Amino acid sequence: MKILLTGGSGFIGSNFVRFVLRERPGYQVINLDALTYSGNPENLADIESDERYRFVHGDIRDIDRVAELIEEADAVVHMAAESHVDRSIMDARPFVESNALGTQTVIDALRRANPKLTKRLVHVSTDEVYGTLPLDKPEVKFTEDTPLQPNSPYAASKTASDLFVRAAFHTFGMDVCITRCSNNFGPYQFPEKVIPLFVTNLIEGKKVPLYGDGRNVRDWLHVEDHCEAVLAVLEKGSAGEVYNIGGNNERSNLELTHSILQAMNCGEEKIEYVKDRLGHDLRYAIDASKIERELGWRPTRSAWPGALEATVKWYVDNPQWWQRVRSGAYRTYYEKQYGNA
Ligand code: NAD
Ligand code: TYD
Repeated sequence: MKILLTGGSGFIGSNFVRFVLRERPGYQVINLDALTYSGNPENLADIESDERYRFVHGDIRDIDRVAELIEEADAVVHMAAESHVDRSIMDARPFVESNALGTQTVIDALRRANPKLTKRLVHVSTDEVYGTLPLDKPEVKFTEDTPLQPNSPYAASKTASDLFVRAAFHTFGMDVCITRCSNNFGPYQFPEKVIPLFVTNLIEGKKVPLYGDGRNVRDWLHVEDHCEAVLAVLEKGSAGEVYNIGGNNERSNLELTHSILQAMNCGEEKIEYVKDRLGHDLRYAIDASKIERELGWRPTRSAWPGALEATVKWYVDNPQWWQRVRSGAYRTYYEKQYGNA
């Protein structure tokens, strides 16, 4: 199996490459990534010389490039996206471009390069397409049938991409699956997302900016559990189906912050309550019973405190990684490896 992975130099993508090459020694991965601010080739420095892996610098909106790579591959796992809600609030345009237009371009390239439509597309989406849940009804969770009611520009752009993928199935009979997962955590996450941001702030002696009252709830999924689920959908999922992926691990942001403070031996005084995010979704919670029932997947690496402590330790042990990410210095590394593209 040769997989064309889009967005493989980002957080989840780089973990996916490592996971696939470890768990499926016979597979190959081509990683197509535009190396935006969050794409970092250093995330895969240890894999570069592995002959089962190839990096291609390019944009998913370049249909010729995507089609060329699809001709070589057996399937596409599509992760490339603008991924940060706060950035989408500041400027939604790149989200429309990469997430909506980019996904439609991947679909068009698949039709062009794969006229018999035998090659599968796994579209990696998010639980944020469902909108938000109330805090006072813990029994209510997102199922695959929950209406799509995105609230942020990021979520709206991901919803658009999901709907184009859905339309490709219904209109052309393309072999597509959609996954919708909850908040991921683990190594190599860009330090703008809450966990690496808080840990690296604390290492640097700074405070952690907690939005609003900290009551918002997220369901935390270890990135390797997510990678395993995406691989299961690629190998065993049914065409046209949506699969929710969750960690069974709901925490308020205040609980999360306390756990991080504890793991870092810091006190409450490090919390700085700041102005709430605009339109801040209250609660995400995933009912992942479909993927468990149909594909036999369930999370085994996401349980806290162990999984969170191991993640905190990774950032503590790898200061050179996040310091270079924060300063943008990894771009020099890229230029040395691949030329000044
Ligand atoms: P990330 O920002 O770390 O990585 C995104 C990658 O996509 C980067 O390497 C970037 O260079 C690349 N990219 C962006 N636009 C591109 C384009 N036009 N062409 C080619 N490459 C491009 O994001 P992530 O956290 O790894 O998320 C990966 C996917 O998973 C996204 O689709 C995201 O919506 C989804 N997701 C993430 C989470 C999470 O908690 N991180 C949760 C649910 C779903
Ligand atoms: P984030 O990591 O941005 O993921 P998402 O918005 O996709 O869920 O944020 C996770 C939660 O943490 C979210 O409820 C917003 C909150 N948050 C803060 O309180 N402070 C911060 O500085 C950030 C980045 C997030």
